[in-house]
Amino acid sequence: MNFIDSERSKILVVDDHPASRMTAVALLSVEGYDIVEAHSGPAALDCVKQANPDLILLDVMMPGMDGFEVCHRLKQEEQTRLIPIIFITALNDRRSRIRGIECGGDDFLTKPFDHLELSARVKSLVRQKRLNEDLDHAEKVLFSIARTIESRDPNTGNHCDRLVDLSQVFGEYLNLSRPDIRDLMWGGYLHDIGKVGIPDNVLLKKGRLNSSEWEIMKQHVVIGEQICKPLRTMRGVLPIIRHHHERWDGSGYPDGLAGPDIPFIAQVFQVIDIYDALTSERPYKAAFSPEKALEILAEETERGWRNPKLVEHFSSFIRRMHSGENNISIGQGAKSWPRRSGIAVPNLLPEVARLGFTS
Ligand SMILES: [Fe+2]
Repeated sequence: MNFIDSERSKILVVDDHPASRMTAVALLSVEGYDIVEAHSGPAALDCVKQANPDLILLDVMMPGMDGFEVCHRLKQEEQTRLIPIIFITALNDRRSRIRGIECGGDDFLTKPFDHLELSARVKSLVRQKRLNEDLDHAEKVLFSIARTIESRDPNTGNHCDRLVDLSQVFGEYLNLSRPDIRDLMWGGYLHDIGKVGIPDNVLLKKGRLNSSEWEIMKQHVVIGEQICKPLRTMRGVLPIIRHHHERWDGSGYPDGLAGPDIPFIAQVFQVIDIYDALTSERPYKAAFSPEKALEILAEETERGWRNPKLVEHFSSFIRRMHSGENNISIGQGAKSWPRRSGIAVPNLLPEVARLGFTS
């Protein structure tokens, strides 16, 4: 395959009628695309695995597995979710379009289609896919960096995975929106990404940091924010990265924000982060029991460091979780996302609003 060939985009045309497929294939071949064909839903799913197309033209009405089902399955899979899907159908009714959008379709064309319209839509969606892939790669790089930092720190163990799990269930318990819960979960991995910019003699030092080393260490929140800022998809995680060491009384860093000036999502994350650190074994300490950890959190709240209302909610959430009440459990979060855990969620929305959370 030469360089030019490797740049050609591949289109999968799925239709149970050979004549319809041929029309689409003829039009797209003229445009210089490589074409793969499938005559049914199951054949399309096989084809996607083998050919990894850049776009799929998908017939809706097919015997057996229809186009909606094919689309739904592909959009659920990590490997195939970014492939744009254009539904090609004779149907032009509103219900079909809504259903197509609900199962993740990107566009619609009706038969018989207009050559120029087909060409323009295919070109635009293929370009969009390339941009999404670049973005996806950038996100993956950031998560890899965060993972690497965690693996170098002998103190943390699987801290990040546990944070992600706990973020999901506590976020659901607070009835936060899905994007907020996603940001909380991403925060689990990314909150300390700025440690990549902290020299080893400080980051890995055994024993206490002196005051100048401590000043360097504190920079990790600002460095982390700078690393993630260019990515639009990271926007919701930035407050967690920058503000997860602020304190309710204003004695934290980097900005010394106090009370509701601290973004609420950063407050929520901080409580989870501290609780996990307390209940985990570290080289310098044994794991505290949940009750002991809540006691310490309460002491810190008494000292003025934490949001009292939030800590109250967190404590009752943890107690209910450990009593088995409402089937709250953790450990599935990262793997099962975006599945809702099915926990009974108390209506805390008015409370959350009072706490100052607006998103
Ligand atoms: Fe941190």
